[in-house]
Amino acid sequence: MDNTAQKVPQVTLRTGEQIPCIGMGTFGSDRVSPEQIAAAAAGAIRAGYRMFDCAACYGNEAQIGAVFSEAIAEGVVKRSDLFIMTKVWNDMHREVEKACRKSIRDLQCGYADMYFIHWPFPNYHAPGCDGDARNPDSKPFSAEEFLDTYRQCEDLVRQGLVRNIGLSNMTIPKLEAVYDRLEIKPAACEIELHPCFQQQELFVWLRAHDIQPIGYMPLGSPQRPERDMFSTDIADMKESALVEIAEKRGIHPAAVCLKWAVKRGQIPIPFSVNEKNYRSNLAAVMSDPLTEEEMEIIAGMERNNRLVKGQVFLWDGANDWHDLWDEDGRISGSQ
Ligand SMILES: NC(=O)c1ccc[n+]([C@@H]2O[C@H](COP(=O)([O-])OP(=O)(O)OC[C@H]3O[C@@H](n4cnc5c(N)ncnc54)[C@H](OP(=O)(O)O)[C@@H]3O)[C@@H](O)[C@H]2O)c1
Repeated sequence: MDNTAQKVPQVTLRTGEQIPCIGMGTFGSDRVSPEQIAAAAAGAIRAGYRMFDCAACYGNEAQIGAVFSEAIAEGVVKRSDLFIMTKVWNDMHREVEKACRKSIRDLQCGYADMYFIHWPFPNYHAPGCDGDARNPDSKPFSAEEFLDTYRQCEDLVRQGLVRNIGLSNMTIPKLEAVYDRLEIKPAACEIELHPCFQQQELFVWLRAHDIQPIGYMPLGSPQRPERDMFSTDIADMKESALVEIAEKRGIHPAAVCLKWAVKRGQIPIPFSVNEKNYRSNLAAVMSDPLTEEEMEIIAGMERNNRLVKGQVFLWDGANDWHDLWDEDGRISGSQ
């Protein structure tokens, strides 16, 4: 049997557990069907992927779960070879165990290797909503509410339903507001990271606290949902500095993004339903790392190019999407 999976470099979490340095994203961006994504997951397991970034709100966990179950039944992988991550959606912050049990049932995985709080507030938007959608019940971040959600995640660890807790879409002010009160410290934090959006300060904060950064939209998500497309956005993979490195090496700019991510120390979770692409993404992180000089060139590509503005989560009275990201160092809208 192909032993690519064994050769994928591993990252060590704070618990000492080893996980692959790359995972596969499973969000279809409201464009790709659950069946197509499940088929890609099936191919990806056979290609050597072992880590999958799932979420209840992606609407495809049952289809992906069938793929996991089949791969295990066929002896392609053991459950313990897989690192399955999923997330509680914003409308289930008061019923985390129920949400987690449903994800585990749908994914047919028995337990989750990592369970994320997808967003740090309970502001719900419907799947596939457009960019102008607002929920009148939305409210600013509350440390107390967040801690209540987190405590429920800690209970899941104690019950053995979840191995690690993950955070997502956090900021330094929000982390500082809660970190000392977290009994079981988070193992990872999933945030947007690509060459033109490096979140250096947050990245350094996470590493200093032994929280593994996981980088979503590692390629700059060229097919992201309409609501996340703004005329001012930059297409990372078309930036000349990146294209030049790719051309010199005779590889695709996507491969350069992934080599950069892994060498910097975040775990990228690229999405692809194209076999050639997901195979080449895995191959990219297994050979020919970038040179220090190339790393420096990419470090210089930072453009504050946040693609997920999150405006659909804004509460009544908020100014605009910048309020979600605490850019002035204070938690916006919080009492
Ligand atoms: N925590 C959160 O709030 C959050 C938010 C957003 C995303 N995520 C996670 O992050 C994952 C990745 O983000 P994303 O899917 O938005 O963006 P992405 O991984 O940056 O980009 C995916 C796009 O790139 C294309 N692509 C992939 N490999 C390629 C290659 N080698 N060459 C050329 N094109 C390539 C894919 O097309 P093909 O399918 O045609 O290859 C797809 O359109 C998601 O799937 C999800 O799991 C999490």
